[in-house]
Amino acid sequence: MIPLIAGNWKMNLMTEEAAAYASELSNRYQKEQEKKCDVLLCPSFISIPTVRDNLSDDLYLGAQNCHSASAGAYTGDISCGMLKDVGCQYVILGHSERRSAYGEGNSSIKDKALAAISAGLNVIICVGETSEERNLGETLARISEQIKGSIPEKLTSWELTIAYEPVWAIGTGLTPTFDEIAEAHSTIRTCLAETVESASEVRILYGGSMNPQNAHDILSVENVNGGLIGGASLKLDDFWSIYACAKDLC
Ligand code: 13P
Repeated sequence: MIPLIAGNWKMNLMTEEAAAYASELSNRYQKEQEKKCDVLLCPSFISIPTVRDNLSDDLYLGAQNCHSASAGAYTGDISCGMLKDVGCQYVILGHSERRSAYGEGNSSIKDKALAAISAGLNVIICVGETSEERNLGETLARISEQIKGSIPEKLTSWELTIAYEPVWAIGTGLTPTFDEIAEAHSTIRTCLAETVESASEVRILYGGSMNPQNAHDILSVENVNGGLIGGASLKLDDFWSIYACAKDLC
């Protein structure tokens, strides 16, 4: 399976910085002899056109959220058709920051996923437990419930990517043990088999304090098919080092 290294810039980088980053990433990627690893950037909505204009065609572009309706009176929102129109191929859905700060639940994430797929976007659905849930021994139950509740039925492997992002690991410098990551990813794979065609081919990314120092070991864990990187994606050299780890493991 070709791994995916995805940068979730969240609410960071001004358009000028975004343009310079996308253009330098494209320069580096163009020089790669073999393209063994897919690379995706998910800038803020406002930087998407700038990144698109500076990104080479073999790199992927995505958004961090979308609305489930195709159009209408939804002040401040963006439809999947608009994302597709502006050049996105991916959209991240159900990130824990949206689940917690905006009250997004499984059923609204599922509605957004259906809308995104019918607009021709690939979806990256995020799941992950809080530290309380982990301490209560509820990690696997929590991520199973999120997978079952937020993924539409009968998807194919190319439409769907999952990101396992333990909430307590995001932006904290903390990460689960490799065994814990393996257990979570294997549980996700098993749950996917109930709803997705060719579940063994769905990419399951790890996200949460991935950095150039730990990327090689995390990306070596079974069923880890890439990374969704926040903080370390803001510096191109760090993001590129993580990409290099993924590529070397292919
Ligand atoms: P960090 O890499 O900053 O921990 O963020 C991970 C994340 O939330 C990616 O979506």
